[in-house]
Amino acid sequence: MKNKTSIQGSWASRWIFILAATGSAVGLGNIWKFPYITGENGGGAFVLVYLACILLVGIPIMMAEVFIGRRARKNPIDALEDVAEESEGSKSWGLIGLMGMLSGILIFSFYSVVGGWVLHYIKVMLTGEMSGISSDDAGAAFGALLADPSTLLGWHTLFSIMCIAVVAAGINKGIETATRIMMPALFILLIILLGYAMTTGGFAQGWNFMFEFDFSKLTWGAALVALGHSFFTLSLGMGTIMAYGSYMTKDASIGKTVLAIGALDTLVALVAGLAIFPIIFSNGMDPAAGPGLMFISLPVAFGQMPFGQLFGVLFFVLVGVAAWTSAISLLEPTVAFLVERFNLKRITATVGLGIVVWGLGIACLGSFSFMSDVTFFGKNTFDFLDYITANIMLPLGGIFIALFAGWVVKNKFAQEELNMSGVLFSLWNLSMKFTAPIAVAVVLYFLLNPMS
Ligand code: PHE
Repeated sequence: MKNKTSIQGSWASRWIFILAATGSAVGLGNIWKFPYITGENGGGAFVLVYLACILLVGIPIMMAEVFIGRRARKNPIDALEDVAEESEGSKSWGLIGLMGMLSGILIFSFYSVVGGWVLHYIKVMLTGEMSGISSDDAGAAFGALLADPSTLLGWHTLFSIMCIAVVAAGINKGIETATRIMMPALFILLIILLGYAMTTGGFAQGWNFMFEFDFSKLTWGAALVALGHSFFTLSLGMGTIMAYGSYMTKDASIGKTVLAIGALDTLVALVAGLAIFPIIFSNGMDPAAGPGLMFISLPVAFGQMPFGQLFGVLFFVLVGVAAWTSAISLLEPTVAFLVERFNLKRITATVGLGIVVWGLGIACLGSFSFMSDVTFFGKNTFDFLDYITANIMLPLGGIFIALFAGWVVKNKFAQEELNMSGVLFSLWNLSMKFTAPIAVAVVLYFLLNPMS
């Protein structure tokens, strides 16, 4: 392949790539979704299955995405086409990139609405409106926010502008600078919150809840949720990691780099759980409260604790930072495509795409008010987009990427790019050809045909 670098530029170092990709991976999936699905699925055994999915399916697919992006140094559609061509495969493999871009657009539209809730909660925590609030009142306050489209629109617009501004500034001046500032901030905040959770008296209970592997609690459904979530949390199956990989330097080892990203993402999810559950338990609340865990239970808990207001602000700032660095990565594949294929200026491409996703976001935020009777298969727009992207489009993208890397790309090219040989390469290859596609196909089958 002839391109030495992408026309968008390249990351300053291997560590910047690791931090940028970790910024994409660590998001609402880790801090909002992971704790509540762990709570809903009974804790320990679920966590163990989730860890196995990350290691056996997520990491190998992430390696494939990075190597395809880096080999072609282009946006996902063109990268897939070029890598296919080099191995004498069909150019139609580029369609995976197209589906991925669509997934990114659809995910952004509901993600930025949740990002908006987070910004609202930073304000609520700052003003102390919720200190000493009861569970019922906190539930009512969250309900009132959802029913208020103009407030939601304001926050959603602010969040979208924050993301558009970073992406428009380019990969070095925008994404890289944001990464350099926000990722260390994120780790520091997380450690402070973990320390705080340790002082609450519920720490042992929180720890046991997450790490006592009681297999009698494990259901098929929970295992399926764990596999589906491993795609969402690692930002796989939609080209984000492929696009970020196209800006990675040639000399860095893909295997080690990807392991670092997977480990950091997992660590953040586990630490987020260990920061949240003790707070929930020490206030006698229910870990299985569902999506409201972060927006209802936690504010109640913070409202009753010493220094709760301060730590409440820190907590929601942490979530906001994590959501921000993920949301920008949802836009990057499409922006790169528009710039490279149509010669658009980066700022034009980003603002144009930004307007589209912002508009789609309005349909999502209206799901709780003026558009509540618009449903698809019984779900409102917000839930429907969350469902089809996380449960169907990303896993499907993942299957195709694995099949492509395993069956279409010639081994010698994969080996060259991954710089691996022997048993390790065979294991990776086996995962691409069989393990990953079969595991994902099983998940998809059961998600679409629930057993109970
Ligand atoms: N990984 C992000 C999270 O856990 C979500 C995401 C998915 C971001 C796909 C980019 C691409 O919140």
